[in-house]
Amino acid sequence: MKPRPTTITAYPDGPLIVRGEAVLIDEHGQPIPQRRRTVALCRCGVSAIKPWCDGTHKVTGFRTAPDDGHGDER
Ligand code: FES
Repeated sequence: MKPRPTTITAYPDGPLIVRGEAVLIDEHGQPIPQRRRTVALCRCGVSAIKPWCDGTHKVTGFRTAPDDGHGDER
C-alpha cells in the first residue's frame, strides 16, 4: 500500500494543520519532538506553546485575510 503524502492545510483565521509524517526543525536546527501524527502550527504568533497552536488565535481575533474595509465581519 502506498503511503499517504503529508499535507499542510491552512485554516482560515487559524493554524496550519500538518497531517502525516513530518520532521519539524527548531531555530537551532534541532528536531522538535512530535507526539501526534496530526499537529497544528501557530501562524498568528501569540500561542504560548509555539510552534503549536493553543487556540489563542480565536481570542485575539486573528485574521488570515486582510480587512477589506467594508465592515462585513465574519
Ligand atoms: S494560530 Fe492558533 S494560537 Fe496561533
